[in-house]
Amino acid sequence: MNKRFYLETFGCQMNVVDSERIVDLLQQIGYRQVETPEEAGLILLNTCSVRDKAERKVYGHLGRFKPLKDENPSLILGVGGCVAQQEGENLLKKLRYLDIVFGTHNVHKLPEMVQKVEQNRTRCRETEFLDRETRLQLFPKRTEGEAVTRFVTVMQGCDNFCSYCIVPHVRGREVSRPSAEILDEVRHLAGTGVREITLIGQNVNSYGHKEGGEISFAELLARVNAVEGIERIRFTTSHPKDLSDELIDAFGYLEKLCRHLHLPVQCGSDRLLREMNRGYGREQYLRKVTRLKGICPDIRLTSDIIVGFPGETEEDFEQTMELMAQVRYADVFSFLYSARPGTAAADLPDETPAAVKQQRFDRLLSLQEEISRDTWAADIGKVLPVLVEGESKQGKGQIFGRTTWNRIVNFEGDSSMIGKVVPVRITKSFRNSQLGSIQEPGARSR
Ligand code: SAH
Ligand code: SF4
Ligand code: F3S
Repeated sequence: MNKRFYLETFGCQMNVVDSERIVDLLQQIGYRQVETPEEAGLILLNTCSVRDKAERKVYGHLGRFKPLKDENPSLILGVGGCVAQQEGENLLKKLRYLDIVFGTHNVHKLPEMVQKVEQNRTRCRETEFLDRETRLQLFPKRTEGEAVTRFVTVMQGCDNFCSYCIVPHVRGREVSRPSAEILDEVRHLAGTGVREITLIGQNVNSYGHKEGGEISFAELLARVNAVEGIERIRFTTSHPKDLSDELIDAFGYLEKLCRHLHLPVQCGSDRLLREMNRGYGREQYLRKVTRLKGICPDIRLTSDIIVGFPGETEEDFEQTMELMAQVRYADVFSFLYSARPGTAAADLPDETPAAVKQQRFDRLLSLQEEISRDTWAADIGKVLPVLVEGESKQGKGQIFGRTTWNRIVNFEGDSSMIGKVVPVRITKSFRNSQLGSIQEPGARSR
């Protein structure tokens, strides 16, 4: 039997963490990961359904694997993640060559499912949502470091039901993990050489609001801040309505907390924010931004914005553009609205022509490009502390790391610097990264 597996991951950090668990579980039943689907006996896709395009991509990939299955009927093909959760049995019906469908709460069942297919070629599906207790027991745990930076999951699920969003439907209700377990994991990772921790969750700053987490998110950050060996802390994704004053204040006194916050606004119009069920208004959002900048003047913010939500008028869109110009985000991830099955917004009339939406999208992109360019170009000449993560893809003798603002910097150096924070003078700024040169310790930093 061919015990080699090929795994492809789409979507957000939640899927990245789930995929690491998949690798771990498959290794436990004797599988070894390979780089190309052609050499594998088991092919798995961990999927995302946040937008239609993401979902279509999955079908595209599966189509690519079909000829492999035609050639080799013993090949096992499986789909997990958010598309699997959303489509369930339909996937098995639509794609006769598919063997396994496992949902977002069922990663732990994968070994059993693979063995079932190996033994009797029965196609199987596990897409049940689990109860809170079971989910808490099954929280993905990180035991291996072997890297400078690591994600640690602190909560799962989302209860917000933004009207356009599929996530609450495919990930289930919010659960927070006990803080003692999170801190044990962080301490363990620090011991293996991890220097930067990113606390993750679909709605990370609602940590502790629901059953499970017994302390506030700001308190959790303070405890992670106290772990020896950890030099930097980040967290994502935050919901503006759950950004408490206590959490904002943490940017003023937690010295390990990076001065970057991803705080998706989605849109700048009060009317649309209500339609989106975001739970905050424009002014409330802007007040939080002002407070953040007051506490931590050089904090950089990034955001997600949806263009073309049903009923978006020119005026609504102008308000989004104004808000962007006012906040001056360092980067924005913008998306054209995509109707998702089963969400509230999918039933709203949407009469704006696609061409108009596209024009708005292009205008937004060009405004943001200008702001991003100016923001990152302002770093040229500065000496910034960079946590070195590894060897750079740019070529021999180059290493890379990130600044507190989460920007990748490539520079000349050697692998002995990996895991260390070094002073780097920024010399050039590109669209997604910067170039620098290492400074002798003690060089003037500003
Ligand atoms: N939990 C995070 C991430 C959600 S998904 C959060 O709340 O911010 C990432 C981004 O995808 C969202 O912020 C939103 O901008 C975008 N998105 C979600 N559903 C979408 C849809 N139906 N159409 C277009 N963009 C969408
Ligand atoms: Fe989706 Fe809103 Fe939850 Fe984010 S907060 S995952 S956008 S429902
Ligand atoms: Fe996509 Fe699921 Fe994440 S829909 S964004 S992979 S939670």
